[in-house]
Amino acid sequence: MFITLEGPEGGGKTWHVKPLAEFLRQRGHAVLTTREPGGTPIGDQIRQVLHRLDNTAMNPRTESLLFQAARAQLVEQIIRPHLAAGGVVLSDRYADSTLAYQGYGHGLPLEQLTSIIGFATGGLKPDLTLLLDLDVEIGLNRKVKSGEWNRLDAYTVEFHRRVRAGFHALCQADPARWVIIDASQPIEAVQEAIRQVVMARL
Ligand code: TYD
Repeated sequence: MFITLEGPEGGGKTWHVKPLAEFLRQRGHAVLTTREPGGTPIGDQIRQVLHRLDNTAMNPRTESLLFQAARAQLVEQIIRPHLAAGGVVLSDRYADSTLAYQGYGHGLPLEQLTSIIGFATGGLKPDLTLLLDLDVEIGLNRKVKSGEWNRLDAYTVEFHRRVRAGFHALCQADPARWVIIDASQPIEAVQEAIRQVVMARL
């Protein structure tokens, strides 16, 4: 089973992956966790280029292709082999982030993005996607406080609002795959909600 965590900035995706993986391992599942962009040595180098605050000249199309380059490597090297061996893969972001950020955020054509995503992933789609959803200002404030501020966080609040609205549009277009979790709740309550959804699906 391939599970992805998605959402606007500051929803706590990265925090939740570890305890969720532990919880599933205790129940006998072979769980592999990963994150995007990155998750492989080559992907982590691409991540640095994407995140560098001084890469302000980066064009949204360049950005889109770099995300797909990192993703192609991750899918082939890590995700597909683990799924083929019968394991569970938990990914902190995946292709829906491209549609939300580069599509709804930057306004690049969704059909073209869907096509390069298909090329990068060979058509691999998640079985379940959790949208850790929260107000954009609250989320960005959390990120400022965490000190993990990167080039993409620094896009305007309006950009991040479009991203959040984009995630909601993606949910509505494929409700069987998506579950929305209210990420403004206390972190333990969010983790509990995530566990319940995942257990119900496994
Ligand atoms: P990261 O520090 O991992 O942020 P977060 O904890 O919010 O996931 O940085 C990933 C950034 O890259 C984040 O701002 C979302 C963005 N992103 C895209 O714009 N497109 C993509 O396809 C992916 C995977 C991420």
